[in-house]
Amino acid sequence: VAMTVNRRILLTARPDGLVSEDCLDRVEEPVAPLADGEVLVRVLTLSVDPTNRVWMREEDSYLPAIPIGDVVRAAGMGEVVESRHADYNAGDLVMGMPGWQDYWTVTSDDDAQVVPPGIPAEDMLSIYGGTGVTAYFGLLEIGRPQPGETVVVSGAAGGVGSIAGQLARVKEAGRVVGIAGTDEKCRWVVEDLGFDACINYKTEDVDARLLEECPAGIDVFFDNVGGEILDAVLNQINIGARIVMCGAISEYTRAESPGLKNYKSLIMQRGRMEGFIILDYLDRFVEAIMELVPMVADGRIKYAVEVVDGLEHAPATLNRLFTGDHTGKLIVRVAEPSA
Ligand SMILES: NC(=O)c1ccc[n+]([C@@H]2O[C@H](COP(=O)([O-])OP(=O)(O)OC[C@H]3O[C@@H](n4cnc5c(N)ncnc54)[C@H](OP(=O)(O)O)[C@@H]3O)[C@@H](O)[C@H]2O)c1
Repeated sequence: VAMTVNRRILLTARPDGLVSEDCLDRVEEPVAPLADGEVLVRVLTLSVDPTNRVWMREEDSYLPAIPIGDVVRAAGMGEVVESRHADYNAGDLVMGMPGWQDYWTVTSDDDAQVVPPGIPAEDMLSIYGGTGVTAYFGLLEIGRPQPGETVVVSGAAGGVGSIAGQLARVKEAGRVVGIAGTDEKCRWVVEDLGFDACINYKTEDVDARLLEECPAGIDVFFDNVGGEILDAVLNQINIGARIVMCGAISEYTRAESPGLKNYKSLIMQRGRMEGFIILDYLDRFVEAIMELVPMVADGRIKYAVEVVDGLEHAPATLNRLFTGDHTGKLIVRVAEPSA
């Protein structure tokens, strides 16, 4: 049998800002023979997530920092090619954290969930994965928008934000206002996704435009961005406002947080800011998916996915999340499934 070569992208230094080649080592290694209990997975697709960059930082987060010298951690999907574990068979599709490599050896430390065949990989990693389901639980469990309320979503044209805004629409929010980085993205969320308005934070005065677009104040803020945009929204929240701390992408590549000046409005307005991590909802994914399927089927929820071919493009594709050079969810395709 020919030796199977595993291309791997290793983290060799902590990036400052965007991920550059001098923080990475691209190696080719033979796949080691499996030990008892192990499973060999050929990686098919990788989810490109802002959290990949968070895990590259020095400090631990909800998961430990990626150790220097390790393969870059990333969620994804693959196909079992060999199994020495009773729960897996060759040909099974599995989801988990394969990382930036061609072959993932699943050991007892790893979590690999068998997924039913027939669901497109792009859907499993976007609308029915950690993107759509994050929007679902973040908005509905933490934001809890009531009919008629005003909901603001930052990162509105991104994977999570685009779904969160549409879910607010489904839940009969009175007004759904997005914040995004280009006029084209703003047009997309208003014209195609049904947001009432969208503010271009790069070219417009966010405070003034929020005042204009949220005449009744802000009841729910689904925040993907943090930093200055969160501060601006805090100034205009209503009594009893809920701020869903989903992400703070504007801060992931910065050494220091800019801090918040307007947090005291949480006191005056009896508001609540609450964070969550989607991994805590793993046992409830099916519930969210069952709710999302009919919304997708009848067009109430639309989503955009861009698939980039080639493991070698994983670092550059991750950087696009931070330059905003994409709409919706980004996925890297590493290989095609076997026939
Ligand atoms: N809590 C959880 O469990 C959980 C799970 C998944 C994701 N998240 C978080 O949810 C957020 C969105 O994730 P995603 O996967 O859907 O990514 P995404 O929104 O598709 O991509 C990131 C977007 O953020 C915007 N952005 C980048 N830098 C920015 C800056 N400095 N200021 C303002 N906007 C900036 C860019 O759009 P513009 O062109 O609009 O700038 C970019 O397209 C992230 O913060 C992520 O960490 C949290």
